[in-house]
Amino acid sequence: MRVAMLTSGGDAPGMNAAIRAATVVALALGHEPVGVRHGYRGLVDGELAPLELADVSDALRRGGTLLQSARCPEFHDAEVRQQARTVLTEHEVDGLIVIGGNGSLTGASYMSDPAEAGEWPVQVMGIPASIDNDIALTSLSIGVDTAMNTIVEACDKIADTASAHDRVFVVEVMGRDCGYLAMTSAIASGADMVLFPEADRSEAELVGAVADSVLAVRKRGGVQKVIAIKAEGIETPSERLKELVDAELAERSGGTAVPIETRVTVLGHVVRGGRPSAFDRLLGSRMGNVAVRALADGAHRQMVAWQPPVDAGDLGVRSEHDPYCHLMPLDVALEATRQLLDGQSPLARWRSTIFDDLQDVFLL
Ligand code: F6P
Repeated sequence: MRVAMLTSGGDAPGMNAAIRAATVVALALGHEPVGVRHGYRGLVDGELAPLELADVSDALRRGGTLLQSARCPEFHDAEVRQQARTVLTEHEVDGLIVIGGNGSLTGASYMSDPAEAGEWPVQVMGIPASIDNDIALTSLSIGVDTAMNTIVEACDKIADTASAHDRVFVVEVMGRDCGYLAMTSAIASGADMVLFPEADRSEAELVGAVADSVLAVRKRGGVQKVIAIKAEGIETPSERLKELVDAELAERSGGTAVPIETRVTVLGHVVRGGRPSAFDRLLGSRMGNVAVRALADGAHRQMVAWQPPVDAGDLGVRSEHDPYCHLMPLDVALEATRQLLDGQSPLARWRSTIFDDLQDVFLL
């Protein structure tokens, strides 16, 4: 097979791991990997070239995407998608892997929709990659873990200076319309509060919530550091929020208390860059491997999704307080652990054989 791959939309740390894995697995299986530069825009312009081992050998530890990316609003146009299909057919591509977020996967779906594409022979596979974690049916997409770590590291640093000066910081983080990164990094960094669009609060409620937090810390006494993480998807701009909070605090203190200093830090594109975390390297590598093997097995119009292998629902009950957590009877968990350690469980057997499948990849 000739397997083309592209990265589209906002880059995400770990995309390179997916490109690398797809390339080396394709080569090991005797297929021809082809890289498309600049996402759909490059596809339409015919920016295709074979990928060699040397192209990806140093990719794993690098952020961004070695294939480069682009936003391509023109891909909403059916004629442009037809042009992309023609380019792929002319280059005798058999399978295309699209690595990207919601918009990029939507593009892959339209491009390969039989209602539009007719008898077009190219198999299409999606890999979810976006720091926003706004793609359903995969518990994580590539880049989220690194982005979360970047935010937590930044908040740790901001906390130092906030503590030194008894200051309030509004820290804005990316995520487009999704509050996931804001929420999870607020928990992981120990922020004092988090504002995210899913809560659907009015501007006055947002201001009131920040002021409440600040005054609660003030009442507690001691160091007056307050970190409020604000998701990009909140419509009120961060500077405006700061001004409204300042006014609210001044009003509530009746001008008598020591003035509270507030600052805004917008982390912006910093959150999208940097060396991918170990987990994002793993996620990208595993998804790239599965995508190529699925194409070779004949899969078409599928997305690789990350789902934990334990079907926990059969063994315990989902927590009412957190759908990611289950309550497992302790003895059931220990029996399953015994089977895992004995090598008897399906998961243990899979773990012991997985590298047999990868022998050819390591021999490259
Ligand atoms: O989708 C990823 C993302 O980084 C969003 O969090 C953000 O809203 C957007 O892309 C920024 O896009 P651009 O780099 O095109 O400004």
